[in-house]
Amino acid sequence: MNTLYTRMQLVIIGLLLLIILSQCKVKKEIPLVLFPFDYPEDVTEAGKPDFIKNYTKGQVLYGIHCAKCHNQMVDGKSEIPNFSLPQLMDYEIRIQYPSHQDPMRETNLPAEELEQVITFLRYKRKS
Ligand code: HEC
Repeated sequence: MNTLYTRMQLVIIGLLLLIILSQCKVKKEIPLVLFPFDYPEDVTEAGKPDFIKNYTKGQVLYGIHCAKCHNQMVDGKSEIPNFSLPQLMDYEIRIQYPSHQDPMRETNLPAEELEQVITFLRYKRKS
């Protein structure tokens, strides 16, 4: 009887510990440092949060989909190139270059996401 009681206590303590531990999952996300940018000239105060959202997503997506081919090593540092506006505005960016066919397939990078990457590349400060 006595041992049964202790066993049940142990089970209850164990369960409580499990619940407590599951509540305090450690967040291991690395905070994203936003690359310096300039707002578009025509952005309104109300439009700024939306711009920041798209720019942030664009920065992340660029890192995933483009950096491996386009970043250049400059003085031992990996740098994002300064694409010109015409280079970025080209709507055929997906199909124009053979090396884009795979990484830029619509299923891999939907139009909305490509748009965000372009927002990032367009408004990031030039180096
Ligand atoms: C597999 C490698 C690869 C990936 C991934 C890739 N590109 Fe490219 N991209 C190229 C190559 C190769 C060219 C042709 C120009 C050249 O030879 O540098 C090019 C050309 C371009 C150009 C035209 C300007 C120029 O340098 O001639 C732009 C703009 C561009 N890429 C943007 C992107 C963006 C944005 C992404 C991510 C969504 C991306 N690329 C992903 C390889 C890649």
